[in-house]
Amino acid sequence: MNQQNIPANIPHTVARTIGFDLVRAVEAASLHAYRWLGCGDKLAADEAATDAMRGMLNLIDMQGLCVIGEGIKDEAPGIFRNEKLGLGMPGAPRVNFAIDPIDGTRLTAKGLPGAISVLAATVVSAESERVLIELPSFYSYKLAYGPRVREAGVALDLDAPLEETLGKIAECLDKRVEDLVVALLDRDRHEEEIATLRKLGARIRLIGDGDVAMAIAPSMLNSTVDLYLGVGGSPEAVIAAAAIKCLGGEMLVRMWPRDDAELVELKESAWSENLDQVYTCDDLAAGEDIIFVAGGISDSPMLDGVAVRGQHAFTHSLVMQATFRTVRYVQAIHDLSRKTIRLASDEKEHHL
Ligand code: FBP
Repeated sequence: MNQQNIPANIPHTVARTIGFDLVRAVEAASLHAYRWLGCGDKLAADEAATDAMRGMLNLIDMQGLCVIGEGIKDEAPGIFRNEKLGLGMPGAPRVNFAIDPIDGTRLTAKGLPGAISVLAATVVSAESERVLIELPSFYSYKLAYGPRVREAGVALDLDAPLEETLGKIAECLDKRVEDLVVALLDRDRHEEEIATLRKLGARIRLIGDGDVAMAIAPSMLNSTVDLYLGVGGSPEAVIAAAAIKCLGGEMLVRMWPRDDAELVELKESAWSENLDQVYTCDDLAAGEDIIFVAGGISDSPMLDGVAVRGQHAFTHSLVMQATFRTVRYVQAIHDLSRKTIRLASDEKEHHL
């Protein structure tokens, strides 16, 4: 077996233990959002998930800081950039977060599959101040693939014709191009890619929403997706990058200004030099103290959603850590006669 060079004396033990506290945060968000499944009101669902996630994160013994929040995208409720999280006691570990209480708010509002609650976290040390990079563009172009392709060391290029990229990936996976499964968000902006993929004969999976899970999919051991590509949210790119790093895959990311006004704004900003830069997972989520946590709201290939049977609610979550690349699935059974969730809005415990 190919053993990688892991230092014998790993100092940051917090990254190995805090994951379970974070699981409780996505469980709470999923359970609370589940009450709004199919309600038709995506803001209400997002607000419910956010309130529960913030309530639970604020119970953790840490000095947390949200460095990438949601809510920027569509003025949705969210945990905002620079918001402090946790008990905040002096001496407690410093943890930075990228958070999306619901990836798939529309899916939740419509009761469709694929909605998850997600966060990426990193323990901050003296050497690593801001390791989760907040890209300033609304959208980014993403090309995500699994460990077999990354380990083969082939050079993939965002500007290469799709035919060439698919050819290389097919070779690494020992498949025909026609057997590759490529996922994209079902958006008009992907018309050209979809037409090319159809011409090449590859299998295509168009998703309505939820590109965090889909970008991670090619890196999952049991995946039926080989490649994810296209334009999606930039905060979602960083969260997915954290997970892909924990799984040993890769994603190439470049900012994708959505219109001329955004392009001008970016050109006039401190990021002007970075517009053509291609970021890897390591660039977006640096260091080894990376943790990724997700909880299922509605069923998806990554995670089952919340299910209520009798007086019990079942939640399904996932926690990964980059150093050892361990992936843990956590199924929890909550007795609804006792279960309460702490909401940040009134700092009280609530029955579901
Ligand atoms: P939210 O649920 O947070 O709104 O995001 C859903 C989502 O599909 C993301 O997964 C994706 O990155 C982004 O929206 C795509 O944006 P758009 O819907 O504007 O194409």
